[in-house]
Amino acid sequence: MLYIGEHVGTGDGPAMDVAVDPIDGTTLASKGGHGAISVVAAAERGSLFHTHIAYMDKIIVGPAGRGHVSIEASVEDNVRALAKAMGRPVTEITVALLERDRNDDYVNRLREIGARVRLFGDGDVANGIIAALEERSRIDMLMGIGGATEGVVTACAVKCLGGDMQGRLWLREGEDEVARSEGIDPNKVLALNDLCRSELAMLAATGVTDGEFLQGVSYVRGHAYTQSIIISSLTDTMRMVDGKHDLRSFSNFPSVNGQATAHKEHAVS
Ligand code: FBP
Repeated sequence: MLYIGEHVGTGDGPAMDVAVDPIDGTTLASKGGHGAISVVAAAERGSLFHTHIAYMDKIIVGPAGRGHVSIEASVEDNVRALAKAMGRPVTEITVALLERDRNDDYVNRLREIGARVRLFGDGDVANGIIAALEERSRIDMLMGIGGATEGVVTACAVKCLGGDMQGRLWLREGEDEVARSEGIDPNKVLALNDLCRSELAMLAATGVTDGEFLQGVSYVRGHAYTQSIIISSLTDTMRMVDGKHDLRSFSNFPSVNGQATAHKEHAVS
């Protein structure tokens, strides 16, 4: 992880904010479970929301739901509004939530109205991106309380994909003061533009373990195969990149302070 305010890079080129989650789904990766990714997002300097508060309540939809949902509205109203915007019955709306006790109320209310509930054990960022994807998406909306940093990373992707997102910090005891000391109104509804103010944003994610939209790393005869997604608002593109990396060249990396800084990648498709 980077700490808030940490400077990285050579100092050449445009100054940017970066938000990283080296592994979103650490537990998944340790168990070989589905859907761990490594992700980095970047946007114009000073444009990304940052806080030491750990959790955020969020609601994320794709382009079809843009402007139709609100974190201040009830679960029921949000699902009905999204169903109407998508021209589908409520029973055909799939909502993904992190499986945690703190999200139980949302889950129960979704089940009451007959929406499809999809619980995931970990991996807020990947599921948030899937919710914002227009094509190939099996999730229409993500809601519930997950990580705050994960929320900011996801916001960059949502911005690029033309979806919508709102968040509100979810405070544990004593965190009210932490938020205020950071100059943040702890009850404020954080619109997509509060989370990522920049119109220029990008996100790159690489699968660590196999998941729904990215394959994980596999090793075959001295090579590592990777799959990444690169989304950019600058070019309005979403690219999938398959990589083949010769493991022998890892020992030849130029390094700074013992850290690998670059490597040779062969795009295979
Ligand atoms: P880590 O890989 O950093 O453990 O995060 C996994 C994750 O599921 C995130 O996707 C999510 O935002 C967060 O944990 C939720 O935190 P917690 O596990 O404390 O409920």
